[in-house]
Amino acid sequence: MLELRGVTRTVRLPSREDLHILQGVDLTVDVGEHVAVVGRSGSGKSTLLNLLGLIDRQTSGELLFDGRETIRLSDRRRARLRGSSIGFVFQQFNLLERRTALENVMMPLLYGTAGQFWKRERTALEMLDRVGLADRAHQTPGRLSGGEQQRVAVARALVRRPRLILADEPTGALDVTTGEAVMGLLDEIAQDSEAALVTITHDLQVAALSQRAYLLDSGTLHDVDSAHAREALLATSGIRAGREAVAGSGPAADAPGRRTASDAGARA
Ligand SMILES: Nc1ncnc2c1ncn2[C@@H]1O[C@H](COP(=O)(O)OP(=O)(O)OP(=O)(O)O)[C@@H](O)[C@H]1O
Ligand SMILES: [Mg+2]
Repeated sequence: MLELRGVTRTVRLPSREDLHILQGVDLTVDVGEHVAVVGRSGSGKSTLLNLLGLIDRQTSGELLFDGRETIRLSDRRRARLRGSSIGFVFQQFNLLERRTALENVMMPLLYGTAGQFWKRERTALEMLDRVGLADRAHQTPGRLSGGEQQRVAVARALVRRPRLILADEPTGALDVTTGEAVMGLLDEIAQDSEAALVTITHDLQVAALSQRAYLLDSGTLHDVDSAHAREALLATSGIRAGREAVAGSGPAADAPGRRTASDAGARA
């Protein structure tokens, strides 16, 4: 369904230097698969997710959706494809504060097909029920707990039955138990609807739910066996090992003067 070949993403900094965030990413995601990407802060995970979600465009390389290169699609076609086929879950939920849970979940259906539009309330209620929140449908997000807000966000992401679900640190703002429950639910609903799920996370417990895990380091993806993901992640930088490890793992392989996202992360 999704195929990346040699994808790079470079941004021009205000200092007029180029920052090479992604430096040749290869990745295939098949229908119904759950893939996790782990990596230290600043390694380029959100940048990658924005490419997968057709929010951003790669600098070079190919990104195929259903076998078709996406870079030359117009913004409108990309937006349409995103709306019909991709659901997003973010760390900070991104719910509309003044709208009820139900209105939040109905929102994507306003832009759907005529059939989806007319049935929007019923469909959204079914989805809220699916995440166990039918009885909170008329509450605004401010009155819901973090875990409940993320379940509303999951319902919103899935209400148009996307074939691809992209989750950026979906458990990042939740405590461990709540995070596990939300992640379990996301995984289960994705499986039920045979959607592919790409989860981006710091959290190795979350990554362990996936069928395949990758480590994003120095702008490229590396296969990791979930059982060894912890060691692999610590070796890159130590999200938990602290700043000495970050400094110690310097980008020795990079040419002098060539800035990578890892460098930027190390300074952060
Ligand atoms: N448009 C941009 N302009 C300049 N720098 C950018 C831009 N986008 C991303 N970066 C930098 O690229 C690096 C990777 O950013 P990204 O947000 O992808 O990291 P991340 O892995 O998602 O980090 P975190 O785990 O903290 O969310 C960071 O150092 C960031 O500051
Ligand atoms: Mg990020």
